[in-house]
Amino acid sequence: MKYYITTPIFYPNSSPHIGTAYTTVAADVLARYHRLQGDQVHFLTGTDENAQKIVRTAEANNTEPKIYVDGVVERFKELWQALDISNDDFIRTTEERHQVVVQRIFTKLFEQGDIYKSEYSGWYCTPCETFWMENKLIDGKCPNADCGREVELLKEESYFFRLSKYQGALLKYIEEHPAFIQPVSRRNEMLRFIEGGLEDLCVSRTTFQWGIKVPFDPKHVVYVWLDALINYISALGYPDGENYKRFWPADVHIMGKDIVRFHAVIWPIILMAIDIPLPKVIYGHGWYLTKDGGKISKSRGNVQDSFALIQRYGSDAIRYFLLREMQAGTDGTYSEDNVVERINSDLANDFGNFVSRSLAMIVKYRDGIIPRPSQDGELELELKALSSEVKKAVDGSLRRCDPASALEEIWRFVARCNKYVDETSPWALAKHEEQKERLDTVLYTFAECIRIMAILTAPFMPGIPSKICELLGKDERLIRWEEADQWGIAEAGIKVQKGEPLFPRIDLAQYLTAEETATVDKNLNESPESLQAPEFEFEPIKGEITIDEFAKIDLRVGKVLSAEKVEKTDKLMKLEVEVAGEVRTIVSGIAKHYSPDDLVNQYIVLVANLKPTKLRGITSQGMILAASQGEVLEVITINKKLPGGARVK
Ligand code: MSP
Repeated sequence: MKYYITTPIFYPNSSPHIGTAYTTVAADVLARYHRLQGDQVHFLTGTDENAQKIVRTAEANNTEPKIYVDGVVERFKELWQALDISNDDFIRTTEERHQVVVQRIFTKLFEQGDIYKSEYSGWYCTPCETFWMENKLIDGKCPNADCGREVELLKEESYFFRLSKYQGALLKYIEEHPAFIQPVSRRNEMLRFIEGGLEDLCVSRTTFQWGIKVPFDPKHVVYVWLDALINYISALGYPDGENYKRFWPADVHIMGKDIVRFHAVIWPIILMAIDIPLPKVIYGHGWYLTKDGGKISKSRGNVQDSFALIQRYGSDAIRYFLLREMQAGTDGTYSEDNVVERINSDLANDFGNFVSRSLAMIVKYRDGIIPRPSQDGELELELKALSSEVKKAVDGSLRRCDPASALEEIWRFVARCNKYVDETSPWALAKHEEQKERLDTVLYTFAECIRIMAILTAPFMPGIPSKICELLGKDERLIRWEEADQWGIAEAGIKVQKGEPLFPRIDLAQYLTAEETATVDKNLNESPESLQAPEFEFEPIKGEITIDEFAKIDLRVGKVLSAEKVEKTDKLMKLEVEVAGEVRTIVSGIAKHYSPDDLVNQYIVLVANLKPTKLRGITSQGMILAASQGEVLEVITINKKLPGGARVK
């Protein structure tokens, strides 16, 4: 099967930002996913360089448009590389291969009477590169909801494209092809828009010279949108290039909601007029907005350096954030503390932690050798069934261009795997020789779960499979998509490694700006009223001790492996804590303040050399530290990447 996917081509009037990166990352996921299916994929992106706004920006920078765009285009290419974008081609509309195709199509449309010469008298919004008739303006400004900027009056000789002639044919096509414009909300919008009536479109300009010349009337340059849309076939070598023959029609043109109109009206009409098939799907996603719902834009001064972000958190984590946070059909919210939160909770706690925890147990209990499994129990069967369910759902979501739902499904599997660790409690099995076979099965299942996670996350986070292969001592066979719900693939006898955590936890305060830290602090401080009330009765401070006396107390970081309430008490919680290579049972009076799930995978502090004591028949081997005042209690936790066993002093 062939699969041709495109992103819009970007205006290189300013460097790309994290919001603009979404389209390209989403397209990359689909391209990678189809490659994993064994499809022959062609993934195109590029830059839209012949716009009037490029002329303006170059002028403002005292340079020539071509010199200006050459610089910015490099930034785009570098960003796509930094984000592991796997495009097969990059088209620039200033390239000869594009220009000849645009001229050829313009001439053909003119010769067959679909383009005619007249005069344009109306308004133009340069930021949107859109013509507007007077009656469409809102308060004399650009009516585009995302724009609202000043428009300019134009009165010039122009060529026009007969959109009106094709209105009926286009409506019929959209009605007969329900999957053509997605999601359905955009389809409905487009239907209403077209039913409102299409006017012929002005498709040339004479007031500036930057752009593709109309071959038979060179004082005109081709209108940038007519020029830009043609990139999807010029890059393939239309009309007789091999790639054109192999890949057209496109399987998906993915883009932001703001430009669906151009793709759902002008583009299909060009294609109908030159009599070639229409793309199969036009998908319009939402936008990344700031926390206050505003646009991310240079003029608002809220654009962060994408390269710095990638360097800080890694391409996989940024990709994960962008893909996860934008729900299908809606806008997403971008802020750096949201990124950090996602990394800490989904990537470090859920995913990375499962991998390190389970590998550490294979290392600890079987010297790192994946054991041969014996009989599956109910829990293993449940995991197997879930993997099939999840794979199916991921396939479905990606076919609908919905990476966020696909990731949600994958994390359902990750969460189930974490629960499996707690339910099977390998540390308890390891204590009993007669449980050896059971422990083998559990540890083998861990290796299988990691393998499946590597496959499922591969299109989203392309750095993961090779890292996991290395840990699992395996080759690239690991990333065969069809094996994502097959079991028994991991080979017993292979040696695994503990390795570095895949996603270290991030300390929020380390990276945020002062203003962001203040917001986070404010949120954190919005805890119970009582904390702010001044009338506390503090316990008196105890009598002095010497440093030597204090040194007798051995405080250690402990990693909570599992937690459960002690039956028939409302205060006590039983924790299994990993400390310096051993697993300790600790009973603590915190059950009123925490649910077991809150504590699993947390790094707490414990008194490691406290004499064991029995509480409700359970031997407690240590005591965990918590701060408390009145009704409020908080267990002391460590956020940096310190292993269970690290000293606290
Ligand atoms: N040059 C045209 C496209 C021509 S395609 C034949 C264009 N370029 S653009 O640079 O302005 O936008 C490129 C893409 O980035 C669009 O899909 C747009 O929706 C997307 N985004 C720009 N800012 C965005 C966010 N903040 N969030 C998500 N996508 C955003 O339009």
